[in-house]
Amino acid sequence: MTVADALRDRRSCRSFTDEPLADGVVDDLVDRARRTPSAGNSQGVEFLVLEGADVAAYWDVTLPPERRAAFPWPGLLRAPALVVPCGMADRYVERYAEDDKAHAGLGTSADDWTVPYWLVDAAFAAMALQLLAVEAGLGCCFFGLFEHEAAVVARFGLPDDARAVGTIALGYPDPTGARPSGSTVRGRRPLDEVLHRGGWA
Ligand SMILES: Cc1cc2nc3c(=O)[nH]c(=O)nc-3n(C[C@H](O)[C@H](O)[C@H](O)COP(=O)(O)O)c2cc1C
Repeated sequence: MTVADALRDRRSCRSFTDEPLADGVVDDLVDRARRTPSAGNSQGVEFLVLEGADVAAYWDVTLPPERRAAFPWPGLLRAPALVVPCGMADRYVERYAEDDKAHAGLGTSADDWTVPYWLVDAAFAAMALQLLAVEAGLGCCFFGLFEHEAAVVARFGLPDDARAVGTIALGYPDPTGARPSGSTVRGRRPLDEVLHRGGWA
């Protein structure tokens, strides 16, 4: 499978079978996904990996049982693994305080960064993880934490500087439970709408 194949084949999978992932599969995916670039080679992306009882604990704080009956993707909760890529802001600030980066003026506070590269880098790693999952024959779905980030931070003890950019559900796809979301059915914008050669006309 080429990178182009994986990009083409990846779709958000919102229903999984009960089949567990073999031991070490998620760790291996994370290990390879973390090869993506990072600002100043800060390597400030870390991954909360949840399997087994930890998956249930995640859903308990983000989708309490009383709200589940109305949840349109019950098969998403069967995903045997969840990965939450986190951008660790302090790693970037500390890296940019080092001699070779001090000229950038970003080594004092995360507030000085016009682009928070810990989010950029976490997104890079999240995308790599999804492509690697597709290559491994798995289904995956990246979804936002939205108002639940604080609950996940508290439940799983993330440090203060960690920004959890979203959650990636991983597992074997259940085609019988596939149900498009309102977002998924939107058409793809034409290339000439998004490609601005030489500037916005
Ligand atoms: C930042 C981000 C947040 C998303 N949040 C959700 C979400 O909360 N729930 C969901 O079902 N899908 C979510 N998605 C998945 C998108 O709906 C999906 O990627 C988009 O509709 C395109 O469909 P595809 O992934 O199948 O190509 C999110 C995707 C991204 C990139």
